[in-house]
Amino acid sequence: MLILGIETSCDETAAAVVRDGKTILSSEIYSQIDTHRPFGGVVPEIASREHLSRIGPIVDEALRKANISVDQIDAVAVTQGPGLIGSLLIGVSYAKAISFGIGIPLIGINHIEGHVFSVVFENPPIEYPALALIVSGGHTNIFYTPEEGQYKVVSRTRDDAAGEAFDKVAKMLGLGYPGGPAIEAAAMGGDPDAVPFPTARISDGRPDMSFSGLKTAVQRHIQTNSVEFPAPGEEPGKAVRDIAASFQHTVVRTLLAVVERVAQSHRPRTLIVAGGVACNQTLRKAAQQTASRLGIPVFFPSQHLSTDNAAMIAAAGHAKLRLGLTAGLEMTADVTLRLQNIGNDDSDLRKRRVHYRI
Ligand code: KG4
Ligand code: ZN
Repeated sequence: MLILGIETSCDETAAAVVRDGKTILSSEIYSQIDTHRPFGGVVPEIASREHLSRIGPIVDEALRKANISVDQIDAVAVTQGPGLIGSLLIGVSYAKAISFGIGIPLIGINHIEGHVFSVVFENPPIEYPALALIVSGGHTNIFYTPEEGQYKVVSRTRDDAAGEAFDKVAKMLGLGYPGGPAIEAAAMGGDPDAVPFPTARISDGRPDMSFSGLKTAVQRHIQTNSVEFPAPGEEPGKAVRDIAASFQHTVVRTLLAVVERVAQSHRPRTLIVAGGVACNQTLRKAAQQTASRLGIPVFFPSQHLSTDNAAMIAAAGHAKLRLGLTAGLEMTADVTLRLQNIGNDDSDLRKRRVHYRI
């Protein structure tokens, strides 16, 4: 069974061919990072234009590298949401055209479910129930997944995503864009205990997370200590390295404290850590330690499958296809798509008044 995956939710135009949900025959990614860098972040309008000009060549290249022609594909899976509407629509429209043109099933994939499936290629089969910590630029959630395709949100960020915090703090420190890798590099020469940044605890008792208070604490620290930033192309000094290391340490500690708490009540047999922030080696090491304390394995995607890619979308598509969950041509992009199909939908939590203990 050959699935063509297409991903255009943010600033990567990606296409991949995956066999039987397990074997990557090709995975092509065109990253728009250089285009957006001068703006210090993704510009949605520019992103959609780039997707439009790249999607055709990227799909062709994925087919060529997989050594197949388009009529050999059994189904096309595409990211339906969440993401940037203009970007999503390019991928969805392209996938629909292929589905209609050659008469194969169309499958709409939740981008976050795609990240969960990014671990299936290079790890043993997932033993359920599993806990999945998905940490990216747009999302930070822990899902309880009692079996494949079943998700309950057991923890969420109440404000910024962890990756977003990395990106914003990197900007504050003059470390450039994207922030995650820049902070990680700067943190290498820094002391993670140099600045005791606070961890937010949410006082309504839920095992949720918050990163905006940490971001403000970094800002305040920079101002009160008149920290000097590196000029473009210059190496950061000790003060910046210490802040980067302390910030990174605080994010990692916050994420894994919640994982450990949720694991106590849900007793998972596997821990999954995926999404762009899962590239971070400090997070990986700490997650290893947490998992061994819990006595369970932890699965990560390899680096190139941690950030956005289409192989994970194709793998998720394979699982949905087996369940007969295909879409009609009326399917369209949905920026509000959520990943929760068991338990109560308490997704309005973001709107509730909450108090933080810092
Ligand atoms: O999954 P992803 O490619 O896109 C979204 O779905 O958002 O994640 C991108 C995010 C960015 O915020 C980026 O700064 C972060 O992942 N990231 C990292 C690292 N590499 C990428 N964060 C921390 N450490 C890294 N090494
Ligand atoms: Zn992503």
